[in-house]
Amino acid sequence: MSNWITVADENEIPPGRWKVVEIDDTEIMIINKDGEYYAIEDICTHDGGPLSDGELEGDEIICPRHGAHFCIRTGRATVPPAYEDIAAFRVRVHEGKVQVCEEE
Ligand code: FES
Repeated sequence: MSNWITVADENEIPPGRWKVVEIDDTEIMIINKDGEYYAIEDICTHDGGPLSDGELEGDEIICPRHGAHFCIRTGRATVPPAYEDIAAFRVRVHEGKVQVCEEE
């Protein structure tokens, strides 16, 4: 069974911005891209950089430390020096709340 966790009010995160929440000891970035929400793990697989300090470029977040890119839709590592993907989580808006599914 899916377990949906409320992480923000709708409208709390402006388009192009994000919020970091902690669920079960995992830091997760909740990203609003043009009104669509995405949720990815907030840790670079290259050397642990916080992706939430990076920049969003299209569908990718760029690690502030050495410039690796990750797809915010899938968590896929697309540009080195990171080669390992990060977790991406399902997100929905339900009754005015942004919710993340605990399962990847
Ligand atoms: S820690 Fe992210 S690219 Fe090195």
